[in-house]
Order: sequence, then C-alpha cells, then structure tokens
Amino acid sequence: MSSFSFILLLLWLHVLMPFNVANSDEMTNMEDGELLGLFEVMGSLLDDDSTWAQMHPQPCTNTPWPGIQCELMAQEDGDNGQQDYNPTIFHVTKIHVGSDILTPPCKSNATLSSNGLMKLTYLKTLSIFDCFTTTPYSLSSSLFENKSFSSLEHLSLVSNPSLHGDIPSSLGYVKSLRVLSLSQNKLSGEIPQGICGLVNLQQLDLSYNHLTGSIPQEIGNLKSLTILDLSYNKLEGQLPASFGQLQSLQKVDLGSNDLIGRVPQELGNLSRLVLLDLSHNFLSGPLPESLSGLKQLEYLVIQENPIKTGLPMFIGSLGRLKVLSFSKCGLMGPILISLSNLKNLTTLSLDNNSLNGTVPSSIVSLPNLEQLNLSQNQLSGDLLVSQEFIRRIGMRLDIRGNNGLCIKNITSVEAKNPFCVSSRSRTSGNNNSWGEEEHQDECAKVNSTLHQSNWSSRNHYGYGIGFKQMLVFLGFLLF
Ligand SMILES: *[C@@H]1O[C@H](CO)[C@@H](O)[C@H](O)[C@H]1NC(C)=O
Ligand SMILES: *[C@@H]1O[C@H](CO)[C@@H](O)[C@H](O)[C@H]1NC(C)=O
Ligand SMILES: *[C@@H]1O[C@H](CO)[C@@H](O)[C@H](O)[C@H]1NC(C)=O
Ligand SMILES: *[C@@H]1O[C@H](CO)[C@@H](O)[C@H](O)[C@H]1NC(C)=O
Ligand SMILES: *[C@@H]1O[C@H](CO)[C@@H](O)[C@H](O)[C@H]1NC(C)=O
Ligand SMILES: *[C@@H]1O[C@H](CO)[C@@H](O)[C@H](O)[C@H]1NC(C)=O
Ligand SMILES: *[C@@H]1O[C@H](CO)[C@@H](O)[C@H](O)[C@H]1NC(C)=O
Ligand SMILES: *[C@@H]1O[C@H](CO)[C@@H](O)[C@H](O)[C@H]1NC(C)=O
Ligand SMILES: *[C@@H]1O[C@H](CO)[C@@H](O)[C@H](O)[C@H]1NC(C)=O
Ligand SMILES: *[C@@H]1O[C@H](CO)[C@@H](O)[C@H](O)[C@H]1NC(C)=O
Ligand SMILES: *[C@@H]1O[C@H](CO)[C@@H](O)[C@H](O)[C@H]1NC(C)=O
Repeated sequence: MSSFSFILLLLWLHVLMPFNVANSDEMTNMEDGELLGLFEVMGSLLDDDSTWAQMHPQPCTNTPWPGIQCELMAQEDGDNGQQDYNPTIFHVTKIHVGSDILTPPCKSNATLSSNGLMKLTYLKTLSIFDCFTTTPYSLSSSLFENKSFSSLEHLSLVSNPSLHGDIPSSLGYVKSLRVLSLSQNKLSGEIPQGICGLVNLQQLDLSYNHLTGSIPQEIGNLKSLTILDLSYNKLEGQLPASFGQLQSLQKVDLGSNDLIGRVPQELGNLSRLVLLDLSHNFLSGPLPESLSGLKQLEYLVIQENPIKTGLPMFIGSLGRLKVLSFSKCGLMGPILISLSNLKNLTTLSLDNNSLNGTVPSSIVSLPNLEQLNLSQNQLSGDLLVSQEFIRRIGMRLDIRGNNGLCIKNITSVEAKNPFCVSSRSRTSGNNNSWGEEEHQDECAKVNSTLHQSNWSSRNHYGYGIGFKQMLVFLGFLLF
C-alpha cells in the first residue's frame, strides 16, 4: 500500500471514529505547544485539574474526552520539507465543557485560560455551558486580543449564572466568527460596537442577559446575519433603520426589552424573514405598511406593545402566517375580514384589546386554526362554529369578556366560553356560516365571568400548540 492511500484510509477511519484512529504514533502526533495549551485550558475549567492531563495524555487519539474534538490536517511544511515524513497531525478543533458532560465537573472558580487558548490556533468551536456557576467571572478584553482565536467560528457561552460584566468589544477582532451565543448569562452594559464588525456572523444570540443601551446603528453591517436574538434584556431606544440592510435575516427576536418609538419602514425590506417577535416592548403604532413585504413571514408576535391603531391592513397579505399575536396592543375597530386570507394560520391571538363589531364567520372556518383568543374585547354577535372546528380547537378557543359575543353551537369542551341561549332554531342551520345580521338579543351572555383558569398554558411566545400541550390537552379530554 502506498503511503498516500494509507493516509486516505486514515482520513476515512478518522471520519468514522474520530477518537480511535491511532496506532501509528508517527501519524497521530500533536504539537507539544498545542497539547500544553489544551491542558492549561482544561485545568483552568475543570475540577481535578492535575488529573485531567494524566487521564487524557493523548486527547485526540488514545485517551479521548467527550468534549474534545480533533481533526487530522496536513502539516505545514517543516524545516526538512520531506513529503513523506509525518505529513499529517492532529489539531484540537472543538472544546465543549458543560454540565452535560459529567466528569469531571467544572470547578467552582473556573476561568478561561488566555494563555492556553492562545496556543489552540486551530480551535473552531468553543462552547462553555452551565460552567461558571459560583465564583463571579467576567470576560477580559485581553482574551480576544493578540490574534488569539484566529480560526474560531463558533463561540457559545450559554447558561452560566455567574458570568457577568461587559461583553468585551475586542470580540470584534475574532473576524472568523459565524455563530456567537452569549445567551442566559448575567452580562450587562451595552452591545459593544466591536461586535458590529463581525461581517461573517450568521447567528447572534445575546438573549436573557441584562444588556442596556440602544441597539447600535452599526448592526446594519452584519450583512450575513440570519438569526438575531436580543430578547429578554433591557435594551431601550428605537429600532435602528439600518435593520433594513440585514437582508439575510430569517429570525429576529427583540421581545421583552424596553424599545420605544415606531417600527421603521425599512424592516419591510427583510424579504426572507420567517419570524419577527417584538413582543413586550413599548413600541407605538401604526406599524408601517411596508411590512407587507415580509412575504416569508410565518410568525408575527407583536403582543404587549402600545400600538393603539386598528388591525393593520397589510396583515391579510402575509399569506404564510401561522402565528399572529396582537394581544394587549390597544387595537381598536373591527376584525378585518382579510384575515380569512391567512389559510395557514394556526394561532390567532387578539385578546385584551378594544376590538369591536362582529367576528367574520370566515375566521372560524380557517382550516388550520388551532388556537383562537378573542377574549377581553368589545366584540358582539353570535358565533356559529362547526363541530369539526370545536373538535380541532377544543379549549384553545377563548371568547370570554366581550360584549355579548357567544358561541352558538355549544358542546361540553368549550363550556367555559359564553354560549348563546336561544330556543329559536335557525333555518339557515347546517352550514358553517353564521348570520352576521342576526339579532343580538337572541344571544345572551350566560357566563362570561373571567376566572383565571389554567387553560392551555402557553409557551412564552404563545405560538402554536406544542406536543406537550397537546398531550396535556388530550389528557384533559380523557380524564
Ligand atoms: C480554585 O480553587 C481551588 C480550591 O478549590 C484552589 O486550590 C485554587 O488555587 C483556586 N484557583 C484560583 C485560580 O483561584
Ligand atoms: C495581549 O497583548 C497585550 C499587550 O500587547 C498584553 O499586555 C497582554 O498580556 C496580551 N494578552 C495575552 C492574553 O497574552
Ligand atoms: C428598504 O426600504 C426602504 C423603505 O421602505 C426603501 O426606500 C429602500 O429602497 C429599501 N432598500 C432596499 C435595499 O430594498
Ligand atoms: C401553507 O402551508 C403549506 C404547507 O406548509 C405550504 O405548502 C403553503 O405554501 C403555505 N401557503 C402559503 C400561502 O404560504
Ligand atoms: C389586559 O391588559 C391590561 C394591561 O394592558 C391588564 O391590566 C389586564 O390585566 C389585562 N387583562 C387580562 C384579562 O389579561
Ligand atoms: C367601534 O368603536 C368605534 C370607536 O372606537 C366606533 O366608532 C364604532 O362605531 C364601533 N363599531 C361598532 C360596530 O360598534
Ligand atoms: C350545530 O349543532 C347542531 C346540533 O348538534 C348540528 O346539527 C349542527 O350541524 C351544528 N351546526 C354546525 C354549523 O356545526
Ligand atoms: C386568552 O387571553 C386572555 C387575556 O389575555 C388570557 O387570560 C387567557 O388565558 C387566554 N386564553 C387562552 C385559552 O389562552
Ligand atoms: C349557509 O346557508 C345559507 C342559507 O341556507 C346560505 O344562504 C348560505 O350561502 C350558506 N353558506 C355557506 C357558506 O354554505
Ligand atoms: C360562572 O362560572 C364560574 C366558574 O365556573 C362560577 O363560579 C360562577 O358562579 C358562574 N356564574 C354564573 C352566572 O353562572
Ligand atoms: C393551575 O394548575 C396548577 C397545577 O397544575 C394548580 O396548582 C393551580 O391551583 C391551578 N390554578 C387554577 C386557578 O386552577
């Protein structure tokens, strides 16, 4: 066998069994400096720091550890430049440390070793999960200076309750970054300008921290961004118009901040956007008609903002919408009949607004609707719903707290909703429509007492019906 095909075989084995390739020491060396760097990094994070190196003297080959990944790479030309001498070498490309890898656990005073990390020049992924939990730890600016992390593409420091302090602006030096997730820590201060220079960044997740200040205008430089999640912080100020430049965006979650002002019309440029969550802010209306340009939008979550207008006309043109939530937005006026264009809609939440008038019958015949909350409005009339609809939607129908809005075809399942009391049977009977011209006096609000019940509990978006919720719901039906 020629040495070339032997290398191919080795590479192939490496793909199958990344950790168990090695029998030939010559082929599986690591550089000493890199190995020492790895020992330093692991020693500064893990309990039993001295024993980790002893237990895993060859972490890429004979003594692997589940959180380490290595790749076999062609060695850079050495001094003696001989082609057939030691042509490949292992480099550490991924470190994942966290509570999901049980032994050894992170030590209480875990830190990131700058010195060690500087020697891991082939590292592509660094992921620290649920590790900084006791002794307060903050990211030093120098960690990302001096050309360390020259290959890093994925940095994930997630769910570390004692990770606090600022996000260092020097992160902007790590130009190779594609994914940056610093979610669920106690990071504070402003979003540093430096981050806005990471032109290769595809995913930025800073959610669930204590970040303040406004979203920098320069965020518009992140042209590769597909996912942006800044939710659950204390960000304030207006949404920068530069958002409109982020044409690759597919998911934007800015929910649960202190954002104010109007939604900029440039947002309508994001033609690939699938999810837009602006919930729980202080954004005011009207929403720009340009949002009709969001042709891919499936999730639009505006709930709990002081929008205080009518339902926007453009909504009916967003044909892909699955989830639409305008709960607690101060909406006024009628429920637009154009909502019935949204054939893919599964969740419609218009509760706790000031909507009035009758409910278009076409809404309750939307073929995929599984959750409809119209409670706490000033809607009226009686709602003739099909048995099929009732079976599909079950307890996720809520029309309580309106001006005489009631369900015509009552069944046991939706008994908490007010139902219409009428002895007169309709001649128009057995179809899915209901007479919008019917007299209201035919319809009485028998029990619209709003008692906070445990109806289908919603996830924090109130989106769709999760599998778990479906089980809870089925369980309810059975017992
Ligand atoms: C971390 O704590 C251990 C004891 O748990 C101690 O021996 C060590 O010196 C501490 N390291 C640092 C950097 O404080
Ligand atoms: C980075 O360089 C600065 C000055 O050049 C130095 O003070 C600092 O210690 C270096 N950081 C690391 C982690 O080596
Ligand atoms: C972005 O939207 C604004 C306002 O809607 C528009 O004037 C501009 O031409 C759009 N830019 C691009 C690149 O589509
Ligand atoms: C509705 O959903 C189906 C299945 O996901 C999809 O094929 C269809 O294109 C959607 N309709 C619209 C208008 O987007
Ligand atoms: C409706 O929203 C208001 C604030 O917007 C709140 O005070 C009230 O409790 C909400 N009602 C229900 C039933 O959630
Ligand atoms: C709805 O409320 C508006 C005022 O907010 C009023 O002008 C309009 O007549 C009402 N419509 C109905 C059908 O009650
Ligand atoms: C209303 O209920 C009656 C009696 O159960 C049924 O015959 C009728 O089909 C229902 N109407 C609709 C629209 O489902
Ligand atoms: C509908 O909305 C109201 C008010 O926002 C809320 O209290 C209720 O739990 C919701 N109902 C359902 C079935 O989700
Ligand atoms: C429902 O029945 C009424 C009266 O029979 C009829 O005028 C109406 O067109 C029907 N609607 C549908 C959607 O079939
Ligand atoms: C409405 O329902 C609630 C809860 O089931 C009950 O406590 C209350 O007495 C009912 N009110 C009327 C008028 O039936
Ligand atoms: C809601 O459910 C929880 C547990 O499922 C229960 O402890 C609580 O009493 C319920 N609350 C109401 C208002 O029914």
